[in-house]
Amino acid sequence: MRTDPDPKSLSRNDPCWCGSGKKYKKCHWSQDRTAPPSPSKWGTPRKNRKIILKTEAQVEGIRCSCQLTKKLLDMLEGRVCEGVRTIEIDEWVHAETLAHGATPAPLGYRGFPKSVCTSVNHVICHGIPDNYALRNGDIINIDVTCVLDGYYGDASRMYLIGEVSDEARKLVEVTKECLDLGIQTVKPFNTVGDLGHVIQQHAEGHGYSVVRDFAGHGVGIEFHEAPQILHYGEPRTGTSLQPNMVFTIEPMINAGRAESHILADKWTAVTVDGSLSAQWEHTVRVTPSGVEVLSA
Ligand code: MF3
Ligand code: CO
Ligand code: CO
Repeated sequence: MRTDPDPKSLSRNDPCWCGSGKKYKKCHWSQDRTAPPSPSKWGTPRKNRKIILKTEAQVEGIRCSCQLTKKLLDMLEGRVCEGVRTIEIDEWVHAETLAHGATPAPLGYRGFPKSVCTSVNHVICHGIPDNYALRNGDIINIDVTCVLDGYYGDASRMYLIGEVSDEARKLVEVTKECLDLGIQTVKPFNTVGDLGHVIQQHAEGHGYSVVRDFAGHGVGIEFHEAPQILHYGEPRTGTSLQPNMVFTIEPMINAGRAESHILADKWTAVTVDGSLSAQWEHTVRVTPSGVEVLSA
């Protein structure tokens, strides 16, 4: 999900972060300087939302939804190849999700027009399936989120099309390692900053950059819950992990600069320098002694 705006980084003449269309100075500026934002007609800002600790029954529901997500990603392993159009991937995911009694969370979410995100090469995330036919050498992230019995399961993988350059293959591998290192850091009393730190160290150690404009997120009862899971950070900072927190880890790693740019379709996020980008995502649960990867 897109990271929350930081009011301190806005200047007075920028449009307000709340989406009112007013200038920041005419809207939330004075409030942000004096008090924590209070609920307004724009709704409670995401950063003030409470973290939902899941009950055992909720965990079981989310586990089932995540297992369906995994099954759909497995199905795609055998199908995604050169010549396949991303719109066909959307049709498969849509049909298979419904066939399992679930619905695709992306469809209609904040106006997203399709059932899955397909992000090819320099697309960081939120690529919209269209008529593009996959070519030899492409790398593509496919991000599936199911809603089963009201519970959300969110995961994504990279798929390599035909013969991929060593450069692209390495980026995909290191990004997977970033996810795995993040997962290994999940246990009670470790922090979100600990997790971000190991991911950032690994990516930057290979000369890559961590995307900062998008983050992992609490998930399960809603698509995007608190807390944000940044994929960079400092050890011993940020939210402490507690048993039965459920969230995604979904590092987006660029071969070049970290900055993103959103296309005119209002969704597709691309690297500003045209460099390749990779992403892997799992939904995880904090257990009393460590982690359970719900979408594995
Ligand atoms: N599945 C994405 C995530 O990992 C969110 C996609 S939002 C959509 O958070 F609207 F683009 F589908
Ligand atoms: Co996610
Ligand atoms: Co996702």
